[in-house]
Amino acid sequence: MSVNVKQLAAEKAVEYVKDGMKVGLGTGSTAYWAIRKLGERVAEGLKITAVATSQASEDQARELGIPLVGFGDIDRLDLTIDGADELDGKLQLVKGGGGALLREKIVAMGSERMIVVADESKAVETLGKFPLPVEIVPFACEWTLSDLAKLGCEPVLRRTGDELYKSDNGNYIADCHFGAIHSAPELAKALQGIPGVVEHGLFIGIADFAIIGKSDGSIEVI
Ligand code: 5RP
Repeated sequence: MSVNVKQLAAEKAVEYVKDGMKVGLGTGSTAYWAIRKLGERVAEGLKITAVATSQASEDQARELGIPLVGFGDIDRLDLTIDGADELDGKLQLVKGGGGALLREKIVAMGSERMIVVADESKAVETLGKFPLPVEIVPFACEWTLSDLAKLGCEPVLRRTGDELYKSDNGNYIADCHFGAIHSAPELAKALQGIPGVVEHGLFIGIADFAIIGKSDGSIEVI
């Protein structure tokens, strides 16, 4: 029987959730398994409150009976569990493949701890093979795309079929093909300097550790 490596990593991370915690729920096919497990534990009596990083995760949590709270009702979170599209040995991440990078960054940075859950294909030596998602405002997006291209990438506006993809925040996502990213902090700084950029998918100095599920059924912690 083949191992569900995403489930393996996600369920391990859920072991860090304790009674009374305020938890950030990530987005994507790995975070899905963490939310599912949390739902099971809540049904067994675990007492937590949670906030979600996307409409999809919020809907899943609500269906499972995980108590959700508004951001006005809490200050900081204890723990966020979320996936990643790529992570390197310095725990620098590329996120946003699911389009939720802005909410994911707000939630992760408002948490005492962030645990990344991923399968082994996400652990890379150098970031950049996965195109970097950048959330941009629709206004003057042509200028923003041109500013992004000046940083040395080929930006492609994400689409869903014939339509331009819109994030939960009503913005576009530019998937930026940089190739190898040798200095993530430098690139992050340059991206922040473009006015039409709302947020980018580089998470630097945010994750505390990563739980990697492997196809032989083992787990690696980075
Ligand atoms: C969504 C994300 C996801 O965490 C990332 O895309 C990984 O997703 P998956 O676990 O489905 O591979 O950043 O915006």
